[in-house]
Amino acid sequence: MEKTTVFREMKDIPEQFTISPVKQQEYLIDGEIFYWKGEFIEVVSPVCLKEGDAVKPAVIGRYPSLTAEESLKALEAACRAFDSGTGKWPMMGVQERIGCVKDFANLMKEQREEIVNLLMWEIGKNLPDSRKEFDRTVEYIIATIDALKNLDRASSRFEMDGGIIAQIRRAPLGVVLCMGPFNYPLNETFTTLIPALIMGNTVVIKPAKHGVLLLRPLLKAFQTCFPRGVVNTIYGEGKTIIGPLMESGKVDVLAFIGSKRVSNILEKQHPMPNRLTTVLGLNAKNPGIILEDADLDVTVSECIRGSLSFNGQRCTALKILFVQEKIADEFAKRFSDGVSSLKGGLPWDEDVKITPLPEEGKTGHMLSYIEDAIANGAKVINEGGGVVDETFITPAVVYPVNAKMKLYNEEQFGPVVPIVPFKDLSEPIKYIENSCYGQQVSLFGKNPAELARLIDQLVNQVCRVNINCQCQRGPDSFPFTGRKDSAEGTLSVTDALKVFSIRTLVAAKESDLNKRIINEIVKERKSGFLSTDFIL
Ligand code: G3H
Repeated sequence: MEKTTVFREMKDIPEQFTISPVKQQEYLIDGEIFYWKGEFIEVVSPVCLKEGDAVKPAVIGRYPSLTAEESLKALEAACRAFDSGTGKWPMMGVQERIGCVKDFANLMKEQREEIVNLLMWEIGKNLPDSRKEFDRTVEYIIATIDALKNLDRASSRFEMDGGIIAQIRRAPLGVVLCMGPFNYPLNETFTTLIPALIMGNTVVIKPAKHGVLLLRPLLKAFQTCFPRGVVNTIYGEGKTIIGPLMESGKVDVLAFIGSKRVSNILEKQHPMPNRLTTVLGLNAKNPGIILEDADLDVTVSECIRGSLSFNGQRCTALKILFVQEKIADEFAKRFSDGVSSLKGGLPWDEDVKITPLPEEGKTGHMLSYIEDAIANGAKVINEGGGVVDETFITPAVVYPVNAKMKLYNEEQFGPVVPIVPFKDLSEPIKYIENSCYGQQVSLFGKNPAELARLIDQLVNQVCRVNINCQCQRGPDSFPFTGRKDSAEGTLSVTDALKVFSIRTLVAAKESDLNKRIINEIVKERKSGFLSTDFIL
């Protein structure tokens, strides 16, 4: 009997979503696009293709495996472009910098279709979510421009206090190494890249392991819209190309979204830790706490979206569900029925929710969580849950989970959902207190007094308490951060402008001479910093 599979032959993939291998040779350093002739890294899609009886992961392209030499050239270019703060870009007026970013956003929009298709093939994100990732990123750029205008307007006046007259603005920090994650390779890279750039920093971008090719259609736009050396791109093995950058001590800001393991290595490599600013989005294990009076319709649908959107591969995903014992069986049944109805397939299939996973060995890793939980007394309660087909695994609802199981503490970052029944609320509270993570929590219930008590306890443990709603980053105007090992720095549209800059002021005693000097500088527009120009 033929084995059932979600995978197909290339000829059965709708024409608009087919792909021809992308052989990327280009990398951008110092305003020049170079063509690499050395080693390459093959890009293997999570989407497999059927060839006769065989099913094999599709090879969809390759990208340069640069060496430390090119990587250091990129860093030198960024350093030259910053030039201790005297480079063209950091000295440029805010209005002009905004113009460059606007031009970039316009050119970026032209690449939507190609980037969306690459998102699907490189990381397996479904079509609506891939489109959303692209559109949300463009909206983020526009919102960043508006936020900067507001910030600049507020600092275009002088302040006087204690006989001192001062103008306080935000100045760039220097050279930013920008490394995004594979699960939001466009959006989360840009939520650090754009604020870093617009504040006058210069940047070296290293894309995540998966989701590299999708930045290629933007290289020309980077080259056209920004002065040379302001944006540089490097590709290859992290160990080879990132270690030397950090060890050089010339990186001023590390903007990294990924694992705490890697961020710890990178931070330690920097010889001058006080010079290094870190903006980090790291691991999380956000719990859902479901109280006995919760509205189960709302709770089940929020928990399904919260735990399984993009196959659970979101840092904000609900990664463990604590359910009050009295309703635990009923919740588990309704939740697993809902999960069983999620359609699995390829990213462009209509209504598909569960798709293949891009990380090597990930389905096996998910199975090992399931086996460990079963060995410790749990079951997979949804029919057909946890069945592997190459890079695809059907989501598994594991119940009842306890503290002996790996799924209880480890961040699974995939489509396996542990449900833990609890007697006393102290269990989930203690869990959060003892966790090394502190991003968000979701509370489901109806009793205002009980919820209020929990809110007051938990706001000092995590950075967002969601009521009757899944955990999430958006809207992007809201602060996004975490405590403990989950994050460093806050990344809303306005907060991001702040983390990539530093408050700097020019101050003088209120003497006649100083007033005359300041007046003349301002009136004759002699300084970019000391200025009352108001952006409209
Ligand atoms: O991977 C973490 C993302 O920042 C989560 O964003 O909540 O909008 O999916 P999201």
